[in-house]
Amino acid sequence: MTQYQTVAHDETGLRDGTIKLHGPEAFAGMRRAGRLAAEILDALVPLVRPGARTDDLDDVVRRMTLDGGAVPATLGYRGYAHSSCISINHVVCHGIPSDKTLKDGDIVNIDVTPLLDGWHGDSSRMYLVGDVPLKARRLVEVTHECLMLGIAQAKPGARLGDIGAAIQRHAEGNRYGVVREFCGHGLGRLFHDAPEVIHAARAGTGPELKPGMFFTIEPMINLGKPPVKLLEDGWTAVTRDRSLSAQFEHSIGITGDGCEIFTLSPQGLDKPPYA
Ligand code: MF3
Ligand code: CO
Ligand code: CO
Repeated sequence: MTQYQTVAHDETGLRDGTIKLHGPEAFAGMRRAGRLAAEILDALVPLVRPGARTDDLDDVVRRMTLDGGAVPATLGYRGYAHSSCISINHVVCHGIPSDKTLKDGDIVNIDVTPLLDGWHGDSSRMYLVGDVPLKARRLVEVTHECLMLGIAQAKPGARLGDIGAAIQRHAEGNRYGVVREFCGHGLGRLFHDAPEVIHAARAGTGPELKPGMFFTIEPMINLGKPPVKLLEDGWTAVTRDRSLSAQFEHSIGITGDGCEIFTLSPQGLDKPPYA
């Protein structure tokens, strides 16, 4: 997400601010990393249920990541000590796995980032815990629509701002708030690289999209107002007005005539209901 540039990290030396253009081998690497991310998110579907502890879900993510021959990129990232981010209800992103248990009616985002053979897959989905009220289910549905409308703009010749414009239009058309403090990001051999992919933008602005660019789109959409605040743990971001928040994330690569989504579910489990 955003604002990592200012922080000392072993990635910073490799980040020169330019948007990298990748070739076929890089696409193949991202396809494998992205597929593993999707398989992990698929495997969580039956495990996300009332009573589940979020640190147990994180253990599953770590085990599946390692079994897949990858490493969770978040482990040790700027002091983060977990293999996933698990964000419940009004938590916008970067929720820390703990002994907290899920309860009936919760909506939860799980974000995973396997680093496989030097390539980063980065994806998150929403899960519904038991019986979820219609208002919350609608937020989740519209947030997924926002992601896919953004992805539909991702093609050569378009501008990066076209993506955020499509997302903002749909979210605000449903009277939801688009989070501004965090954004999508370039990725590949780096976890977080240029460009910053903002989710509320003006069409026709920003860099032109070119074949070989890799980045995530990961809109965070609030039932209430956009502003977020950070909790004392330094990670957990919550909505200022405590309204519910939803997010979906895919990693994509710009192709000759559109884009490839690296993190699509092989089982078609990209959004709830997963039954
Ligand atoms: N996966 C998150 C993203 O989409 C980043 C999490 S970094 C962490 O960019 F340190 F909070 F885990
Ligand atoms: Co991301
Ligand atoms: Co992510």
